[in-house]
Amino acid sequence: MGHPRSDIDVIFSAEQISERLGGLAEEIAQLKLDKLAIVAILKGSFIFAADLIRALHNVGMEPEVDFITLSSYGKSTVSSGTVDILRDVSIDVTGRNILLVDDVLDSGRTLAYAKDLLSARGAESIRTCVLIEKDVGRAVDIKADFKAFKGPNVFVVGYGMDMSHRFRELPFVGRVVST
Ligand code: IMP
Ligand code: MG
Repeated sequence: MGHPRSDIDVIFSAEQISERLGGLAEEIAQLKLDKLAIVAILKGSFIFAADLIRALHNVGMEPEVDFITLSSYGKSTVSSGTVDILRDVSIDVTGRNILLVDDVLDSGRTLAYAKDLLSARGAESIRTCVLIEKDVGRAVDIKADFKAFKGPNVFVVGYGMDMSHRFRELPFVGRVVST
């Protein structure tokens, strides 16, 4: 169970997440994409991506893995509306099948920005995969091709996700109820 926390309500437990990732990996494997490259959007997706690639291994896949660091929130819990590249990918995406991995699909701006960027660079195909698709109206019309969970429209932390640089280390996804 790990260290109990009275300040966080659990939304998705570590057990729930790990159970779901096996099924998610099978869904992705069914696409049978040749030379798949995962591009994980940092920082929030680092733990999800780490678990997802091992789940993909378990279904026989051998994806290449890269990262891009994007920022739309800064220290706030409300999207600023503009997306900045803090650190770019290091692979050449031209002609590649890409799976973009992010933690949360909220307004849609981050994922749409990343998709447009890699598309403009000549990626062969781009699919999107998120840990949580929030139940909220999007500012940008984009759907995740794959999602681990649908989630409520609340700010979530843990499993890689932060609030003002805290809580990334939690092995579950939760909501802060007191600080
Ligand atoms: P969007 O651009 O509004 O769709 O927001 C997506 C980005 O904002 C994700 O990459 C997350 O890093 C971050 N984000 C959105 N909602 C949350 C949340 O509830 N907790 C932590 N990060 C979030
Ligand atoms: Mg993010």
